[in-house]
Amino acid sequence: MTETLSNSSANGRATAPHKVSPRGGRAGAAAVPASPSGARDLAGMRSVLDDLPMRVMLCDLDLTIRYVNKASVAGLTELAAYLPIDPAAILGQNIDIFHKDPSHQRRVLSSADNLPVHSLIQVGPETLDLNVQAVFDEDGAMCGAMAS
Ligand code: HEM
Repeated sequence: MTETLSNSSANGRATAPHKVSPRGGRAGAAAVPASPSGARDLAGMRSVLDDLPMRVMLCDLDLTIRYVNKASVAGLTELAAYLPIDPAAILGQNIDIFHKDPSHQRRVLSSADNLPVHSLIQVGPETLDLNVQAVFDEDGAMCGAMAS
């Protein structure tokens, strides 16, 4: 999630129909690239994600948070007063705890056909520019979602 210049609450939402790309992935979806040199490349990718200036969070299909980069932890730490848990303990939490009506997010995230989603969300005094897209495994099956 990125912080926007606006402080007003808004509900802008834009969804786009998914398109299947030639590799079997979907246009606009996060994909795990093929890695010819294996674990070392993956570690490199991980470190790129860790240090990316934009906020990145990943959850699995149960909506358990599996990855949070440093920018996310820093951003959430600034908003700690408005969150139900300490941001340092966010890994392993279910995203439901952050949502007013979790059934809405569960519905949206139940199918890649509903993604990507773009929305301006309000957390305390901040308006966050939320983008959520599906994450796919090597077989093209949805295995989670990425919020940035
Ligand atoms: C991987 C992690 C997360 C995912 C996949 C996710 C997903 C979503 C989705 C799909 C929406 C609905 C957007 C719409 O339909 O317009 C949403 C809304 C929202 N999210 Fe998250 N979210 C995540 C983490 C968080 C966290 C950590 C927070 C707390 C800072 C948060 C706070 C909110 C709020 C405040 C809204 C709008 C109001 C509400 O529904 O409660 N989300 N999120």
